[in-house]
Amino acid sequence: MVKAAITGLSHYLPDYILTNDEIATMVETNDEWITTRTGIKERHILKGEGKGSSALAIPAVRDVLEKTGTAPEEVECLICATSSPDYAAWPSTACVIADALNIRGAMCYDILSACTGFLYCLQQAQAFIKSGIYKKIIICSAEKCSSFMNPKDRTTLPLFGDGGAAALIEPSEEYGVEITKIHADGAGNDHLIHVCGGSFCPPSHEAIDKDLHYIFQDGKYVFKNAVTFMTSAVSEVMEEGHLTLDDIDWICTHQANKRIIESVREHCNAPEEKVICNIDHVGNTSSASIPIALHEAAQQGKLKKGDRILLAAFGSGFTWGSIYLTWADCKI
Ligand SMILES: CC(C)(COP(=O)(O)OP(=O)(O)OC[C@H]1O[C@@H](n2cnc3c(N)ncnc32)[C@H](O)[C@@H]1OP(=O)(O)O)[C@@H](O)C(=O)NCCC(=O)NCCS
Repeated sequence: MVKAAITGLSHYLPDYILTNDEIATMVETNDEWITTRTGIKERHILKGEGKGSSALAIPAVRDVLEKTGTAPEEVECLICATSSPDYAAWPSTACVIADALNIRGAMCYDILSACTGFLYCLQQAQAFIKSGIYKKIIICSAEKCSSFMNPKDRTTLPLFGDGGAAALIEPSEEYGVEITKIHADGAGNDHLIHVCGGSFCPPSHEAIDKDLHYIFQDGKYVFKNAVTFMTSAVSEVMEEGHLTLDDIDWICTHQANKRIIESVREHCNAPEEKVICNIDHVGNTSSASIPIALHEAAQQGKLKKGDRILLAAFGSGFTWGSIYLTWADCKI
């Protein structure tokens, strides 16, 4: 049975590193608090005028095309997961990326599913591959989270970082996406929200004076729900596949908080060696976090052809899900 395989993977992190110590000069906090509560030591920030999230995905997509020997005209579809699009509405960040890389005529669109975005992309790519509509699909994540962080809010500023990632998805009879469980429930909308900038609250002096152009998060509530929904999605996948821990080589969850990752690991009874975690030096890069973590693990030689990987993510909405896949011959 044909599967959607990740045959190329890359990521990009901007040069500037924002350390906990530097954050402590901006808001009342310290390295010890941030490290023990979140596991984050530093995050990358995209600096400079006139650069949107696309600037983080373009290098990753270019690298994937080069490493896999794919010409821009071969790409049939480009899906970009982003919660921080270059423009509030038009055009899509996918179209900006496609233009920069001379990808002409492909189906290009954005997915706004917050931190679960990469899993949403993967499920959609799988549907296109299984149906036979497309055979070469680029999925990417572009997240300039720093553009909506309140520099005065110590409860959100330490958490997020900027980053991009990209994957080439192609059909394979052998390896690829095996099981997907993807969900959303808008009952969580108000707990993690970026109010101003869209049609509900267009930019105005009044909205900006109220800091509505920054994200708001009810951290404790989000934390609890992240653990509940990620572990339930993992259980769903494991039940459907009749999987035990022996069927899982690697667990890679959304990198939101080390303690959330730890809760998912405990739920699976997995040893620490099976968990892919890079939150200490990347922070929460929203939809880019899973592909960045996977690519770093692959670069470290951890991921081998045939390895069985369990992914899990959670984000604003709420959106959440889990995917079980087998690692293909992936160019990194
Ligand atoms: C944000 C988060 C780290 C806060 O950790 P927490 O243990 O829940 O901490 P609390 O919010 O209960 O705050 C405890 C205290 O620390 C304070 N505090 C918050 N941020 C702080 C900081 N950066 N430095 C120092 N103190 C801080 C709070 O003001 C509070 O003080 P108080 O008790 O005097 O009111 C945690 O809730 C979290 O990670 N939530 C999920 C975030 C997330 O992953 N979001 C994305 C999901 S995709």
